[in-house]
Amino acid sequence: MAIEKPSGKKLIKSSLSKEEMSKAFGFALSQPDLITTEDTAVIFYDLDFLDDRIEKLKSLFPETTLHALAVKANPLTKILAHIIQLGVGLEVASLPELYLAEKAGFTADNIVFDSPAKTHDELEYAIKAGIHINADSFDELERIAEILENHESKSKIGLRINPQVGTGSIKSTSVAGVISKFGVPLNDNTDRIIACYVKYNWLRSIHVHIGSQGCPVPLIIDGIRKVLNLANEINSCLKQHSATQLIDTFDIGGGLPVSYYPDTEPVSMMQYHSMLQENCNELFDGRYKLITEFGRYIYANTGWVASRVEYVKREKNYNIVMSHIGADLLLRKCYHPDDWHHQITVVDSRGNLKTGTDKNKYIIAGPLCFAGDVIAKDLDLPVVNEGDYLLIHDVGAYTLSMWSRYNSRQMPKVISYRNTNTFEIIKQRETKEKLFDFWS
Ligand code: LLP
Repeated sequence: MAIEKPSGKKLIKSSLSKEEMSKAFGFALSQPDLITTEDTAVIFYDLDFLDDRIEKLKSLFPETTLHALAVKANPLTKILAHIIQLGVGLEVASLPELYLAEKAGFTADNIVFDSPAKTHDELEYAIKAGIHINADSFDELERIAEILENHESKSKIGLRINPQVGTGSIKSTSVAGVISKFGVPLNDNTDRIIACYVKYNWLRSIHVHIGSQGCPVPLIIDGIRKVLNLANEINSCLKQHSATQLIDTFDIGGGLPVSYYPDTEPVSMMQYHSMLQENCNELFDGRYKLITEFGRYIYANTGWVASRVEYVKREKNYNIVMSHIGADLLLRKCYHPDDWHHQITVVDSRGNLKTGTDKNKYIIAGPLCFAGDVIAKDLDLPVVNEGDYLLIHDVGAYTLSMWSRYNSRQMPKVISYRNTNTFEIIKQRETKEKLFDFWS
């Protein structure tokens, strides 16, 4: 499948530029009391960019589509309260994530509950509330069947299928290999899956998710196509059994990769959508209500973090920057450095871009007590000094949500902004008292 850029159409921005970030940061620094000396690091979200991503997604898919954005990518409650106004739903993967969704005002019909380890009580809660549930295994289906015997419910129930199409370049985020902890593997279970749909008249949805970042779009489409074939086959079978209702909901998951490199154009949502139309056209002919579960595409490029330079250790052949963001925020980058990348821009203490190239290369180290707390090596950078800031790009997804408590560092303040000059603190820097409560 060739990926072509649609001709004549303006491509949506794939990420924020260093100029935009430094401008916003300069303005932010000049606001009274917005950033204080306590704020050794501050996370920023560009709401204009975020809105653009969501509008783009909504404009491409049929109006009836439920875009259930993955809470695990970004659970900030102010962001959830913001996106609810844009007419999207949420994908949740734990009871606390479900709680966040409900507290933010999302109604049952706008929430999709995934997870391979739902307890009986969690299932009962979601069933009573009428929330869409994607069962992850045959055993979970049995539990749901038991609960449904005793409860009337509006829940739509789906089954997650692993189409076993293979893994992408990042093993830890690929879930459609021959062996995966997620879903029911298709190859050896087709008959059993069909039998479940025939047996349970409440099982009328189907779910597939191939992986997150590192899975090429043709692999994602291949997986969806396989599950679509299965859904079509199940529906023919249900017709033969004179079933009153067929599978009417298809959840295509998330997984559209984004670019973490400023000069690499990622596959756009528009390209992904047209490849889906081309290869899975039944998804768009009205027989299935669609659900999507994007996370990274929505958030990753909308967020960045400014991390203050505390010290620079200058050696004969290299320099080490000691900064305030490391494996606490960028867990994956530090533990799997070859799989991930974050562009780094240096600005001075007022937010002005620094230029030129120092004679020695830089190592960028975080504040945590282990040698692997390094977010970049061999970097050519302008001369970096104490009091400068590193702007670390594209940290909007799977960063704060994976925050590590090691060394009990305080979670940074989070600020959202529009037009690079209107700011709102959407999460205060964690206080020492809150941290004490956490460990108590
Ligand atoms: N749906 C399901 C069932 C998922 O498991 C995920 C992500 C998504 C949707 C959203 O995928 P996205 O559109 O964000 O690629 N950095 C994390 C990524 C784990 C992804 C988990 N699942 C990590 O390194 O663990």
